Amino acid sequence: MKIAIATDHGGFPLKEDLVARLKKLGHEVVDFGAHELSPGDDYPDFVLPMARCVADGTCERGIAICGSGVGASICANRVGGVRACLIHDHFSARQGVEDDHMNILCMGGRTVGVEVAWDLVRTFLEACFSGEERHLRRLAKVDAAPRNVTVL
Ligand code: RB5
Repeated sequence: MKIAIATDHGGFPLKEDLVARLKKLGHEVVDFGAHELSPGDDYPDFVLPMARCVADGTCERGIAICGSGVGASICANRVGGVRACLIHDHFSARQGVEDDHMNILCMGGRTVGVEVAWDLVRTFLEACFSGEERHLRRLAKVDAAPRNVTVL
């Protein structure tokens, strides 16, 4: 699978570890950086280009990391066609893809250990969207919601 990955300084060591593990499994990894540990860098500079690459289909799935994963997930979801979620547990890593068509997995480099992160990544990559009618219906409602609606 062709996988995009991005992080700021908060997830740099985790990203390096995951890139090596993904390549060892035979995946093609497009690494959007950070390419060095630089405490002053900003996650949007890495996460936005990575998210665009997933949205336009150049990469099949994406992984976005920052210190908590919060900034990375907020940022990635600004890109149309992206369904990015901050994930901490095995169940959601799978169900997020099967039911909600999640295409970018977000994690916190300061909140998750490398072995748990690796389990989440493998689970995310192995899962497929079910395509079931009720999930398509829900996703269509999400897609139909204009971004500028503040009061329902
Ligand atoms: C950077 O210090 C930190 O704020 C960032 O990596 C991330 O956790 C933001 O959500």
